[in-house]
Amino acid sequence: MGHPTPSYRYGKVVFILGIESSCDESGVALVKIDPPLSSQVQSATKVEKIELPQLLAHALHTQIEMHQPYGGVVPELASRDHIQRIIPLLKQVLQTSGVDIHQVDLVAYTKGPGLAGALLVGAGVAACLASSMDLPLMGIHHLEGHLLSPFLSEDPPSFPFVCLLVSGGHTQLMRVQSMGQYELLGESVDDAAGEAFDKSAKLMGLDYPGGAELSKLAQTGNDKAYQFPRPLLHSGKLDFSFAGLKTSVLTQVKKMSDSEIEASKHDLAASVQAAIVEVLVKKSVAALKLTGLKTLVVAGGVGANQSLRKNLKEECARLGAKVHFPEMHLCTDNGAMIALAAAMRVQYGIEQGSKSYAFDVKPRWALGDLPR
Ligand code: KG4
Ligand code: ZN
Repeated sequence: MGHPTPSYRYGKVVFILGIESSCDESGVALVKIDPPLSSQVQSATKVEKIELPQLLAHALHTQIEMHQPYGGVVPELASRDHIQRIIPLLKQVLQTSGVDIHQVDLVAYTKGPGLAGALLVGAGVAACLASSMDLPLMGIHHLEGHLLSPFLSEDPPSFPFVCLLVSGGHTQLMRVQSMGQYELLGESVDDAAGEAFDKSAKLMGLDYPGGAELSKLAQTGNDKAYQFPRPLLHSGKLDFSFAGLKTSVLTQVKKMSDSEIEASKHDLAASVQAAIVEVLVKKSVAALKLTGLKTLVVAGGVGANQSLRKNLKEECARLGAKVHFPEMHLCTDNGAMIALAAAMRVQYGIEQGSKSYAFDVKPRWALGDLPR
């Protein structure tokens, strides 16, 4: 027997709860769609103008400090911590927004990709909440959340655009034709950009995850002090490779004593950052030229990098293109982007959520395999 398709009444505000637990951040958020759906909205192609969802509240707990002594994320500790955090974060979001839990219309959670155990916590809580209140449940792709996150900024983009998705686990260039329509143009064949930042930072003796710390040091360093490789820069393709950079940084620091590394850390950081940023910028420009699109959207944790932001703004201005970023606090993982993705899936008529409650998680999941 089929399950009834949930319907959202036209004329009524729709409240959507989002839960993120794919890695080392627990996030909960509430968005509203106002004005809500029009019954004419059937497919993305027919959508003329849709009001963007509004973020009412979001709460986040980062586990970074807990994992730091281990130099990376310990999956079992991550799952156990999510269990303790999600309900208190949910209470905080409801209190801040002034919305009662019984006003919620849809519960969304990160279904993948990510750590299986960590994902299961968010999925389990979301399914329990939804089934206990007889609400529809929707599993969201974490990367779709990231790539839509600039829609919550003060200067939101509009479709179509090229997306540069740069996180700790992924480096991808995509053509985003409309909501749910994602075409992969290129991706990293080995390490992700965030990984390249973090591994280089670790070799310099910085704490995990060193990306943000490295970029702080880089602000006052000489980016030409060391020549690190820019792999695949002139390959003519939109793929990335960052593993060679890490090896090159390793070779360099092996030649130096601890005190020499300490004395040169600003220059080392600036040179590493320059290598990563140059590749990301040149490939993004190539993707804009290839597609003929004039809008670039940057998403993911590395999108917080100031040098990347500055260089992309300059290069896009030169091309007559515009670049959009998420708000700084929404670059790394958060629940807001999950609630947002669910809201936009509903608005564009792609998915309404389901009351089957047969939740599952997909630790590995290609963005192209999403329902559209
Ligand atoms: O998107 P995200 O929170 O996690 C994943 O979904 O993977 O991204 C985290 C990544 C980490 O590698 C972190 O070092 C990096 O983003 N990151 C930065 C900066 N802030 C965070 N990398 C470079 N510069 C930054 N300012
Ligand atoms: Zn992420």
